[in-house]
Amino acid sequence: MKTLITGGTVVNATGRGAADVLVDGEQIVALLAPGSTILGHDLAGHVDKVVDATGKYVVPGGIDAHTHMEMPFGGTSASDTFETGTTAAAWGGTTTIVDFVVQYAGERPLEQYAAWHEKAAGHCAVDYGFHQILSDVQDSSLHAMDELVAEGVTSFKLFMAYKGVFLSDDGQIVTAMQKAADNGSMIMMHAENGSVIDLLVQQSLGRGDTDPVFHGLTRPWQAEAEATHRAIMLADLTGAPLYVVHVSAKQAAEQIALARDRGQNVFGETCPQYLYLSLEEQLGAPGFEGAKWVCSTPLRSRAEGHQDHMWRSLRTNDLQLVSTDHCPFCMTQKEMGRGDFSKIPNGIGSVEHRMDLLYQGVVTGQISLERWVEITSTTPARMFGMHGRKGVLAPGADADVVVYDPRGHTSIGLGKTHHMNMDYSAWEGFEVDGHVDVVLSRGEVLVEDGQFHGRPGHGRYVKRGLSQYLI
Ligand code: URP
Ligand code: ZN
Ligand code: ZN
Repeated sequence: MKTLITGGTVVNATGRGAADVLVDGEQIVALLAPGSTILGHDLAGHVDKVVDATGKYVVPGGIDAHTHMEMPFGGTSASDTFETGTTAAAWGGTTTIVDFVVQYAGERPLEQYAAWHEKAAGHCAVDYGFHQILSDVQDSSLHAMDELVAEGVTSFKLFMAYKGVFLSDDGQIVTAMQKAADNGSMIMMHAENGSVIDLLVQQSLGRGDTDPVFHGLTRPWQAEAEATHRAIMLADLTGAPLYVVHVSAKQAAEQIALARDRGQNVFGETCPQYLYLSLEEQLGAPGFEGAKWVCSTPLRSRAEGHQDHMWRSLRTNDLQLVSTDHCPFCMTQKEMGRGDFSKIPNGIGSVEHRMDLLYQGVVTGQISLERWVEITSTTPARMFGMHGRKGVLAPGADADVVVYDPRGHTSIGLGKTHHMNMDYSAWEGFEVDGHVDVVLSRGEVLVEDGQFHGRPGHGRYVKRGLSQYLI
């Protein structure tokens, strides 16, 4: 099957230009000057399908490097399955996700890795890779880290919070970091000081402060900044590359910037919720409404300027990319925490909206068009060992392509664009200038003319290499 995408402006992280994209089978085979011919014949006559991208941007498919499909968490499970979550991702122009295999204390990492393959295989509409969460780092975990790297799982998430669930102590963190320094893998860190948070939570509940807003007030920026600093120091001690997930506090981003200025291999991701939403407006909504936006790290105060600082950090490359931390729960699940915010399942869903929400940053002048492509696709590919195949429009790359209409419009909300398995939208009422028009994954059309043409099982496991982003 040959497809020609004509008339558009091809945008890579390195620049833009008018070009036609020729796809043969699963790969891009050429970027051609517009109107190129073969032996005097129009190319369109030599292909099976023509996609007219006139007046539109043609960009690499989005890569969401932080999702939690079907994740068992807080006594329930994230409401998107691999099928529903990856279908929603495709609708929004994301053609690859990297999901987290979960290993709780007492479980065996390799068994959990096999279990996640069982959950995902045959169900995904887009390609998928895995990171691995390690909860109690034992000798067996270190051995598993080597085996997992050989399997294409080249990044390991550790937690400095959630005692008794995920938390690793500093000694365990250093042990895992030593292994990562040795085998070349990346340590991903949930950087919040769990002991301090647990104390503040107990004090808050003891005072009768049980509403969702206290989830944010008991996870102050100091707890994030301190843990981020500590993680950076432990990474420096061991030589391991460090990737700090879901950065929301200005002061945490500043710690990452300082480490990078020193030349350390430290990276940070933020998420759409930390760019747009706030503690005052969403988490502090009246009654139990704020439960919709309970996630960790929490939404931060707009008055303190965290959101502006996240955009700035993306411009200056102090933060390198934007993932969603897609971990959706229905309100029926969030109800578990009515009267006790600490029991609200942590997480919100955005996998469908990341490309649109970030494009809005182009519209408002926060980031350039090329930076949009870089932080949503090219850098995730490089950071997590997929570059060349993913994250770029170039001959030899997978034909994961999005035709994006800058003159289109997207109204986000239930009954509108929403395809995630949630009974509410954390983004209800958001209006975005721009629209995902056509989505191709490895040459197959997934979305076109407002219709979904994909199928569960199209998505394949991506065996990742080591990070291509290290200094
Ligand atoms: O609230 C969140 N972020 N839920 C998902 C788990 C995590 O820590 O990433
Ligand atoms: Zn986390
Ligand atoms: Zn997460």
